Order: sequence, then C-alpha cells, then structure tokens
Amino acid sequence: MPGFLASLLLPVLMTMAMRFRKKSRLRGVAEEVGGEPGVTRRNQRFPALVETPWEGATTLAALFEQACEKYADQPLLGTRTLISVESEAGPDGRSLEKVTLGPYVWISYGQAFEKVKLFSSGLLEFGHVKEEKIALFAETRAEWLIALQACFRNNITVVTIYASLGEDALAHSLNETEVTTVICDRKQLKKLIDLGESLETVRRVVYMDDDSDKSTLAACAWQLESFSNIEKLGKGSTAQAHFPNASDIAVIMYTSGSTGLPKGVIMSHRNIVATIAGVMTVVADISPKDVYIAYLPLAHILELTAETTMCAAGVAIGYGSPLTLTDTSSKIKKGTKGDVGELKPTLMTAVPAILDRVRDGVRRTVEAKGGLAKRLFQTAYRRRLGAVEGSWLGAWGLERVLWNAVVFKNVKRVLGGRLRGMLSGGAPLSGDTQRFINICLGVPIAQGYGLTETCAGATFSEWDDTSVGRVGPPVPHCYVKLVDWEAGGYLASDKPLPRGEIVIGGPSVTIGYFKNQAKTDEVYKTDENGLRWFYTGDIGQFHPDGCLEIVDRKKDIVKLQHGEYISLGKIEAALVVSPYVDSIMAHADPFHNFCVALIVPSQTALENWAKRVGQEYNDYADLCQKEESIKEILKSISQTAKQARLQKSEIPSKIKLLPDPWTPETGLVTAALKIKRENIRKAFAEDLKKLYQ
Ligand SMILES: *[C@@H]1O[C@H](CO)[C@@H](O)[C@H](O)[C@H]1NC(C)=O
Ligand SMILES: *[C@@H]1O[C@H](CO)[C@@H](O)[C@H](O)[C@H]1NC(C)=O
Ligand SMILES: *[C@@H]1O[C@H](CO)[C@@H](O)[C@H](O)[C@H]1NC(C)=O
Repeated sequence: MPGFLASLLLPVLMTMAMRFRKKSRLRGVAEEVGGEPGVTRRNQRFPALVETPWEGATTLAALFEQACEKYADQPLLGTRTLISVESEAGPDGRSLEKVTLGPYVWISYGQAFEKVKLFSSGLLEFGHVKEEKIALFAETRAEWLIALQACFRNNITVVTIYASLGEDALAHSLNETEVTTVICDRKQLKKLIDLGESLETVRRVVYMDDDSDKSTLAACAWQLESFSNIEKLGKGSTAQAHFPNASDIAVIMYTSGSTGLPKGVIMSHRNIVATIAGVMTVVADISPKDVYIAYLPLAHILELTAETTMCAAGVAIGYGSPLTLTDTSSKIKKGTKGDVGELKPTLMTAVPAILDRVRDGVRRTVEAKGGLAKRLFQTAYRRRLGAVEGSWLGAWGLERVLWNAVVFKNVKRVLGGRLRGMLSGGAPLSGDTQRFINICLGVPIAQGYGLTETCAGATFSEWDDTSVGRVGPPVPHCYVKLVDWEAGGYLASDKPLPRGEIVIGGPSVTIGYFKNQAKTDEVYKTDENGLRWFYTGDIGQFHPDGCLEIVDRKKDIVKLQHGEYISLGKIEAALVVSPYVDSIMAHADPFHNFCVALIVPSQTALENWAKRVGQEYNDYADLCQKEESIKEILKSISQTAKQARLQKSEIPSKIKLLPDPWTPETGLVTAALKIKRENIRKAFAEDLKKLYQ
C-alpha cells in the first residue's frame, strides 16, 4: 500500500476501531422467571428457551435418523488405520509403545445409519431385553457412538462409566443400575474379567476389538460376542425400531463424586436434545464443511454433547486419542503424523490441561530455536497481546495478517492449521493460556461452564469476546440465576455486580441422581411453572453485558486445575491434629494444582521448638514470620498429612503463620469454633494471594 494512502486511511481506521471497542455488546439480558428470587439472565439473542434443533427432533433417536437422511452422503465417522506398533526404550529404560497410524478411513452418515440399525437389532437377537440397561465402557471411538445410537433406537437406557474410575466404582455402577449387557473395548474387558463374579447382574458382554484376548474368559458365565458379529446377527432380524419419547431416560452417567462412590446422573432425551439445540447456536456457522477431532472421553458429558451436536449438524467426526493427538504426542512414532496433523480439524473441544500442554509445547519449541526466531516470536506476541487487550492496533487487520504469515502460521500447524474454533470446558481455563491460544493459533475459544447435572454447557463465552476469566452468557437453552447465599455473604443485591449461588434452569436440567432421592431433593427444585432448576454450589457474578464469572465455590470441595477434587474440610480435619496447629484453613485456587493453608500455630509448641533449636526472634509475631518456623511447621504437617493418607495435592505446598488466635469475637470462627471460610478468606485475601505468587 503506498505510504500516503496509508496515512490517509489510518485515522479513519483508528476512529472506527475505537468506536467498535467502546460499544461492549450485550450478551445476556434480564428475565422474569419463577422459583426462588434472584437475578436471572437469558441469552440475548433468543427470547424463548430453545428446546430442539428443529421441529420433530425431540429425541436423540429421531434427531440421529433425521440427520442421517439429511446428510446421507456426507462423511460422519473417521478412524485411522493402524500401520504398525513398535516398542522403543524410553528415557527411564521402560519400553514405550509407539504407533504409526495411516490416513482416516470414513463412513458416511448413510452408512453409519445402516450400522446403527443392524447393531440395534443385533442386540435384541443376542438376547438383550429392551427394558434392561446396557453399559458402555470403552475409550472414545466410532463404535462407541454407533452403540449409543443403536441403544436409543430401541429405547434402551445407556449407563456410561468413566474409564478411569476404580474397580469398586465400576462394580458399584453396574450393580446399582442392574446392567445386563456391557459393551467394552479390549482394555476394559480385562477389568471386567478381573471383577468377574462380583458383577451379579451382567449376562452378556460385547467386545469391540475382534482380536481381544478371550482365553481367560472361559471362566466367566457370560454370553460373549464381538461387535462385528452383533451387526451380523442384526442382518437376519425383522424387529422394528422402538423409539423412546422425549421424557424417557437416555443415559445414566456416572461421574466421580468428590467423596465416596460415584453418582449416576439421570438424563432424558429431552435434556440432551435441548443442550444440542443450544450448543448448535454457540458454534458459529456450524455445517457439513466442518471437521471435528474427537479424543476426549465420551463417558464425559462435554464430549458426549459435543459429538451428538456434531452429528446433528452434518459435521465429519475423526477419532483420535490424547496420546496420539499431535506429531509430538507420546505414542506417535517420531517423524509420523499425529491425529490433528492427519485430520486437519476445523473444530475441537479441549480441557484446560490439554491446552496448557499445547502452550508449553509451543514455548519450548520457541526457546529451543532461540536467536532471531525467538525474538521475532516475542515481538509478535507482544504486539498481538497489546492488540487484543484493547490498543487501537487491534482492529488494524494488516499487522495481524503480517504476523500470522511470518510467525504464527507454523504454530497453527501444531493443531493441523485449519482450526477455526474451540470449545473448552471441564475446569476453569487460566487467562494466560486462553490468551496464548487466542494469539498463537488465532483461534477463538468458547469457554463453557456447566455440570453433568445440567447436561454440560449452561454458559459459553462467545467467539468474538476477547476478555479472559469469564464464561459467557447463558446458552439459549437455559436460564442462569444468582440467588442469595447469606452465610457466605454473596447477595443478588451486591454492588457493583450482583452475586450469589449459581442456579441453572431449563429443559437441559437433568432428572436427578439414580436411586438417591435425598440428594436429588437437596439440589434440584421444580418451580411453580414446572421449570426445573439445579443448585450448583458455585458462586458467580454477572457482568453488565450479561456474562457470568465464577468467583467462588459454596462447597468445601475444590476442583484443581487438572480436574482432581480436593476437600478443604478433609485436609483441615487431618492437619488440625498436628501439635503445631491450633487453627487451620486450607485454601485452593482452581487455577492451580496445589493447595495452601493459613495456620494459627500453637504458641507454646512453636516457642518450645524455637528454644530447643536456638532460633532467635524479637516477639511471637516475628517468630511466625521466620522462614525457619514456616519450614519446621510445613515439615511437621506434611508428616501428619501422610499419616492421614492425604493425596499429594491435598498437602499444602505453602503456608502462612498467623500469630493472633481465631476467636468467635474476631468473626473468623463460629461459637463452636468452626471456621467461617468466607470471612477468613476476606480477612486474609492478601496473604492468600501472596501464597500463590
Ligand atoms: C421406554 O422405556 C422405558 C423403560 O423401560 C419405559 O418406561 C417407557 O415407557 C418406554 N417408552 C416408550 C415410548 O415405550
Ligand atoms: C449389588 O447389589 C446388591 C443389592 O442390590 C447387593 O446385595 C450386592 O452386595 C451388590 N454387589 C456389589 C458388588 O456391590
Ligand atoms: C412417553 O411414554 C410414556 C410411557 O409409555 C407415556 O406414558 C407418555 O405419555 C409418553 N409421552 C409422550 C409425550 O408421548
């Protein structure tokens, strides 16, 4: 562009850019609803809650059949061929399995539908009775989705179990739901065999891998058949499909409870279909041109709703796994292609832990290159960061195009080079990672908030929203309400922003917990209009544009960044036993992987120790500040924690010693000396912040 033309255009562009920025778009608006009073928001674009993606698609079975008719010739399910498996010696001497995978082999919507029909009838021929439940217990793959849809065609309820749950949890879930048929992969088949006799209700097992090792199976009294043989059985069948209706139970999803055994969340067809309808509006222009990489566990609500949504929109789904995702993934043979390199997806879902890994990988590569490449990267990153954070250059597309061409193009290639959007959920995403992915990949991230109980996404940040730390406005299929939580000091009337416990209402709110009416009644409520609400126990606040921000958790349970739950109450109960501890409050920031603690030490114990080791100090407050004191108490509580068998993440990594005792008068503990978590957090907010620096 000639220089003078640029100088003419620049001021115009600048003013336009600033105008654009000032006008913060309204994304969520107030709504009058029933139930408990509070502040409610709905999606700005949809005055009425959406319930189905299109008329007539009221169940997953109907939705799938209609999508298969609509997109019959489009590719639906893609799986990579396995070319070779080798063992390589890893750095620690252990042998690592490395695979070479070939291109994706696809089946169309039409072909997938044929398979679903055959498998569905085959299950009945095999002896399964419709009224009984089937469990799906396998890693994410095409057969999982086929089996799921096959069950729905005959109104069979599917029980899903997280593959990483322990044996007790597995036995409990299968037994509680009286599952009679289990469909599993090779790896999970081993687990089933180990459990053997204790699975009292199981009669039939279908295994997905034809080459599964069946030698040890003779001992089991199960009827056993391969996935492909079930399809063959279906060929001879004359049975007609028996569709469910919208209120029938589609899935009972077992999720790892924060304590004790897993809970089964009961989801109707209506619940999941409503979520699909809502999520389809979140992903801009979703169409059969899109390609989605599927690799997260399908037993998790995030992936289940994502894949069923893709199915409804005519998208092609290519399967992969976390261990083979990119060219540098641990199971990929060096020099061969990872799943995204081969698939070149346009859409993907991710959990924060995966995105953190992508970010670290890019940073390492840049470090390793050094020199000019590194300097260029850093300059580009700074410039783009300034741009998205609001300086006027942001809207000036030319600079962006330039940096993309010079620097970020190679980074984009890490995820295949064609990605146009990401959905992130499951845990909070750190602002740093969100920015990094935004800038380096040029990919917008829709960060969602939702729970299994609300059938995944209740809010999603919109793709043109470049702010970090917020989870967006309500999805069009539900309302989000904040209700007072007086004990915690969060009120809907709070200024400047309304705050309170997050309550979600709408057709996606699930039926409740399986065989646990007491727990269901505790957290689910139906209002006078018949609308169902779920009380999340999370604390949020609404921004003026209608977006939600999660600020706290009501329960003592905190989910750390990598998805582990820790119970603050349990940690405190274990550590208060230590002779050094008078009072303790554990604290965990969900953006980190460790917890910290505020401790009021026992003055006598600490002073005795100081005398014993000859530690000098001015006064007691000074003693509490000493590095040596902190070290001594940390060491002692670590031992106490180990004796109490706390997990590593449950042992505070850093502590702050407070000289003044917590008494009821201070407002930090109740009359019964129970800690008042919110008040302590407030009083020592600065100290807690420092512990995480
Ligand atoms: C679907 O199955 C459930 C449980 O067996 C049953 O209660 C319900 O009536 C069935 N729905 C239809 C439409 O037959
Ligand atoms: C399965 O459930 C029955 C009762 O429904 C119970 O007696 C049995 O102990 C349970 N078994 C396991 C392995 O949990
Ligand atoms: C769903 O099925 C149940 C049981 O067969 C029946 O009572 C109910 O009326 C059905 N609902 C609809 C909307 O068809």
